[in-house]
Amino acid sequence: MNVGLKTQILPAGAAAVAAAARSLAAGGLVAFPTETVYGLGADATNPAAIARLYQAKGRPAFNPLIAHVGELSAARQIARFDATALALAEAFWPGPLTLVLPKTPDCAVADLATAGLDTVAIRIPAHPVSRDILRVFGGPVVAPSANLSGHVSPTTAAHVQSDLAGRIDLIVDGGAVAVGVESTIVGCFLEPMLLRPGGVPRADIERLLGRALVQPPEGADSDNGQPLAPGMLASHYAPRTKVRLNAVALEPGEALLAFGLGAISGIDAASTVMNLSERGDLAEAAANLFGYLRTLDTKGAHTIAVMPIPHDGLGEAINDRLRRAAVGRE
Ligand code: TXA
Ligand code: MG
Repeated sequence: MNVGLKTQILPAGAAAVAAAARSLAAGGLVAFPTETVYGLGADATNPAAIARLYQAKGRPAFNPLIAHVGELSAARQIARFDATALALAEAFWPGPLTLVLPKTPDCAVADLATAGLDTVAIRIPAHPVSRDILRVFGGPVVAPSANLSGHVSPTTAAHVQSDLAGRIDLIVDGGAVAVGVESTIVGCFLEPMLLRPGGVPRADIERLLGRALVQPPEGADSDNGQPLAPGMLASHYAPRTKVRLNAVALEPGEALLAFGLGAISGIDAASTVMNLSERGDLAEAAANLFGYLRTLDTKGAHTIAVMPIPHDGLGEAINDRLRRAAVGRE
């Protein structure tokens, strides 16, 4: 176990990028900003580094990782792209979309990172700091969200520090991220499947493909057995405080996670109120979601009550994360 490591924190810049690339090459664990959430990176071809990564996160080893690359040419060395996959890559990369594709025969990503599957998840992130690190390092980097397994995903370097200080080698601080929820994951199977709603709204993908994304089979989304794709442990993204969804009235002592300017009764007795977006903007709400859950989790409320969030656009990803935050706590 690598608890007790000295975790270095460097502001984003050329020195941090060079240190990150050096650490990754030496088998180190480096947290860095992507446009969605902070990732915890390790050399995707180094099984020992990947084992340390699972350990540092306390993550179940059956949950496979996303390989991050800087260029489509690098992605094509590790996975086979059919016409649909290419169309998606061209439209949405770099950006908050992950594609699950068949591995190539000489795929360099370690089996430990793909949990022994014959598919691999890939994404080209858009954040300039992650792009610089990938370019200087020069190989694929696996990066789950840089939080302890099951905890809320980090959208600032301080979030990473509070979960992983002493467990990883380096944190590159590039400020708060822009999107705030993880990438959308599409499985490029016989029919393209929405494995996880995320930073690219479903409707944008369906418009490009000219068809609906199919849903994963019933039961794939569970804590039992191998999730199909699934980042999808039923209770992921959980604050420690109980979470109550679709609240239309507040009970005494509850903390409120509000959205928009709609009225809610009982607000005078709320212990704390944070509003994801007063103007009802879903992109702003996504960017604030994980940070606000973390803050409300420290306020000593017995419950975090969440106002209803519309389900369109980024609302699908926001509601997915909120549902997971509430599992087992209702
Ligand atoms: O935005 C993101 O995607 C962030 C940033 C850091 O890039 N990363 C992220 O990684 O959210 P993580 O490890 O928290 O989620 C990866 C998801 C998991 O749900 C995993 O089950 C799924 O990707 N996944 C990975 N490989 C897969 C595969 N071969 N087949 C199906 N699902 C896969
Ligand atoms: Mg995660």
